[in-house]
Amino acid sequence: MQVKVVIGTIAFMLTMIILGYAALREPERLEHFTEAREGRTIEVGAKIYINNCASCHGVEGKAEECYDSAGNSVTCQGLPLNNYFLVCGDTPERLAQTRFEGTKEQFIERTVASGRSGTVMVAWSERYGGPFRDDQVQDVAAYVLNFANEEFCAQEPITFDWPESVDDFLVLETDEFAAAPGDAENGAALYASYACNSCHGNIDEPGSNQIGPWLGEIAEVGATRVEGQTAAQYVYESILHVNNFIAPECAQGPCTNPSAMRADYAFAIAGNTPQDMIDLLAYLLGE
Ligand code: HEC
Ligand code: HEC
Repeated sequence: MQVKVVIGTIAFMLTMIILGYAALREPERLEHFTEAREGRTIEVGAKIYINNCASCHGVEGKAEECYDSAGNSVTCQGLPLNNYFLVCGDTPERLAQTRFEGTKEQFIERTVASGRSGTVMVAWSERYGGPFRDDQVQDVAAYVLNFANEEFCAQEPITFDWPESVDDFLVLETDEFAAAPGDAENGAALYASYACNSCHGNIDEPGSNQIGPWLGEIAEVGATRVEGQTAAQYVYESILHVNNFIAPECAQGPCTNPSAMRADYAFAIAGNTPQDMIDLLAYLLGE
């Protein structure tokens, strides 16, 4: 009788120890499981990205190099997704710019799912007539968010103290930067390399704009947009602060507010050289 009690007690204690150990291990096991699943999701998302998105958003989401299905180099029509302002931090600036209330995960999943009406960014979810199931939308969104790795996000964007007035900027002379006269020919090359042409088209061809207004007559039109502003001031501000003033007519009808224009040029141009702004102005204003 006593032996049975002892054996029973020992068996009970052993069971508790094993269960306790398993319970302690559980969070660790779950974490491994989640990591493995996330790894797979990003991998699946990468494949979806390469097959469906890279033709517009480019190799590694940089919107710099784009190829069509035959492998020919084409102009990137999409915005950079491998972009500090879209993926880094808990609330990237892009959310505020587009007045989105939610997380960056939701922003990306919803944009992919429902697209951007009036642009070539179509809806990808089968809920809105696209080809993807919910899990595929989530996978490709996870791939995009994966650009936000520590190393990438640790590099603070390069800033430049842009003067408010374009006239002050055009004659600026500081230790870091001395303005030189505008070079319209280089401006034409920059208009393509900053992908202005993907939305505004070719300035020699009316109607070639796909998203924003055609800029072939901006030297005249720009002077009429905001009372008291010269065309140069207007174009300068349009590039630096896209939401300050919304142009009336875009390629597909009235322009949307907030602006559909890429909103990080103040940093992108500073990252190269502010002189690029002067050359772009010379090109667009024909000076
Ligand atoms: C035909 C070209 C094209 C394809 C293909 C395309 N996109 Fe886009 N995408 C765009 C354009 C253009 C925009 C910007 C639309 C606008 O003006 O608001 C955009 C916007 C986005 C945005 C929002 C970026 C921001 O900063 O607001 C995300 C995210 C995005 N696309 C993801 C994807 C993913 C993922 C795929 C593949 C499933 C994809 N896109 C396929 C052209 C494309
Ligand atoms: C993703 C598309 C897109 C890209 C890329 C883009 N823009 Fe825009 N842009 C727009 C849209 C849409 C508007 C109209 C809404 C607004 O006023 O912001 C606009 C407005 C403008 C205007 C005011 C036009 C007017 O008729 O009042 C100027 C000037 C301009 N952009 C210059 C540029 C330059 C220069 C670049 C490249 C450095 C550029 N944009 C890149 C979409 C784009």
